[in-house]
Amino acid sequence: MIRNVEAILETIDLRDDAPADEPMRQYYFIKKARELVKAESEKLGRRLTADGETFGCQMNAKDSEKLIGILENIGFEMIEDESADLVFYNTCTVRDNANQRVYGRLGFVHNMKKKNPHKKIALCGCMMQEPSVIEKIQKSYRFVDLIFGTHNIYKFAELLVAMYSSDSMIIDIWKDTDKIVEDLPAERKYAFKSGVNIMYGCNNFCSYCIVPYVRGRERSRNPKDIIREIENLVSEGVVEVMLLGQNVNSYGKTLEEPMTFAQLLQEVEKIEGLERIRFMTSHPKDLSDDLIQVMKHSKKICRHLHLPLQAGSTRILEAMNRRYTKEQYLALAHKIRREIPDISLTTDIIVGFPGETAADVDETIEVVREVQYDNAFTFIYSKRTGTPAATMPNPTSEEEIKENFDRLLAVVHETAEQRSKLLLGETHRVLVEKCNGGSQLTGKLSCDKPVHFEGDACLIGKFVDVKLVEARGFYYMGKINMQEHRLRELLCKAKQNR
Ligand code: SAH
Ligand code: SF4
Ligand code: F3S
Repeated sequence: MIRNVEAILETIDLRDDAPADEPMRQYYFIKKARELVKAESEKLGRRLTADGETFGCQMNAKDSEKLIGILENIGFEMIEDESADLVFYNTCTVRDNANQRVYGRLGFVHNMKKKNPHKKIALCGCMMQEPSVIEKIQKSYRFVDLIFGTHNIYKFAELLVAMYSSDSMIIDIWKDTDKIVEDLPAERKYAFKSGVNIMYGCNNFCSYCIVPYVRGRERSRNPKDIIREIENLVSEGVVEVMLLGQNVNSYGKTLEEPMTFAQLLQEVEKIEGLERIRFMTSHPKDLSDDLIQVMKHSKKICRHLHLPLQAGSTRILEAMNRRYTKEQYLALAHKIRREIPDISLTTDIIVGFPGETAADVDETIEVVREVQYDNAFTFIYSKRTGTPAATMPNPTSEEEIKENFDRLLAVVHETAEQRSKLLLGETHRVLVEKCNGGSQLTGKLSCDKPVHFEGDACLIGKFVDVKLVEARGFYYMGKINMQEHRLRELLCKAKQNR
């Protein structure tokens, strides 16, 4: 991660042509955009404001941090309000309701733009990779100023310069890319934890899923770049990282010198000062014994594994192109629980995939009971145009799907509640994440469950020991262990660092 942006910008002369090589080309445009923003600010007699609205998964959240980093370096003041001079929507298209929410926001922001004509609206992210969406926006949302996709977010400064120099809608969408552009400024939402991309794209083509079409082919980042980024984050105070990829278990396959995900984790573990490692998401078909062993012996990898099941019926799994059977999944879950007994398992499940019957959902429920998930994210199947499942006939009625969904949800709640009772009365190490007003803090256990407890806001970003006194399904109520001298010490240190 580049730290001294100013030093780089000083070497750039805007009278020269823009350099062809990245990332220098983008620094050139950051400098150029600064001038445009400054001129606009002087005209208005105030600083220009910007707002980023993010939909979807952690990948998008990470991308938004990169976009915000560029905006801040250009001179925008970031605010959390769509009345800003520039609003970007980083969109998701995994299910149709994500798309509908964006169209809703666009209607709302259009009214604001009518009152404030110099307001600019930018759209980016997964939804923009779909040609039908672009057509719709060109036809019905002509007030949008800039559209770009998932492969060229690093070009944001260059695109902004184009946008401010033109009166018509700027559209720049790439179908795919083999490029990974690094070393641009990024802004972090949290001081103490951070997502770190380890790979981009997905090659799995689960038959219901749009992600491989909108995020492109799988590309792994070079391990040296990943380690360097984490070392820099740690030097800035980060204690927890979340390694991000659509299928982290296939990390490294496309590298010149192939490396497994388990090997990468061992390298990350060595980073001094880093306390916690999380990762997301693991595809069950690629989860290796090596990974289980590395997790088992690690002192830093959190006791949590998100292992998407999607469905419990082998017939449906096959139609989904998941490439494992119900029995293989169960065997894997049992092996993980045997090797790492204190692990928490969470999952994703889709209900209503084409052709799924009540009997198929019974099998999913059976798996939920057997695996005893700590949490499960359940979704109603959403048809995504262009995916193989979109053309499969679906004779199951909406009512039946809703009934199946509710049946599953009841069991998910039941097992989660049973699981959460297991830790009751125990004291666990918690990373304090936020203060909910007053003196109520929220922190995360290693198993990823939140715990709420009384404490001083100066503990945010610190580890404390908390006794779990009440289990409320997906979260706990806790009490800080006051006897511990360490706490006072921490309080002191935290206050000094402020
Ligand atoms: N790469 C991750 C998932 C990314 S999408 C993985 O393989 O687990 C997150 C979740 O959205 C998926 O796990 C799936 O449960 C759900 N999902 C994906 N496509 C969907 C669709 N068309 N309808 C409903 N849910 C879907
Ligand atoms: Fe989608 Fe499957 Fe890839 Fe996950 S692994 S992103 S569900 S295609
Ligand atoms: Fe959505 Fe794109 Fe993530 S479609 S779930 S934001 S990869």
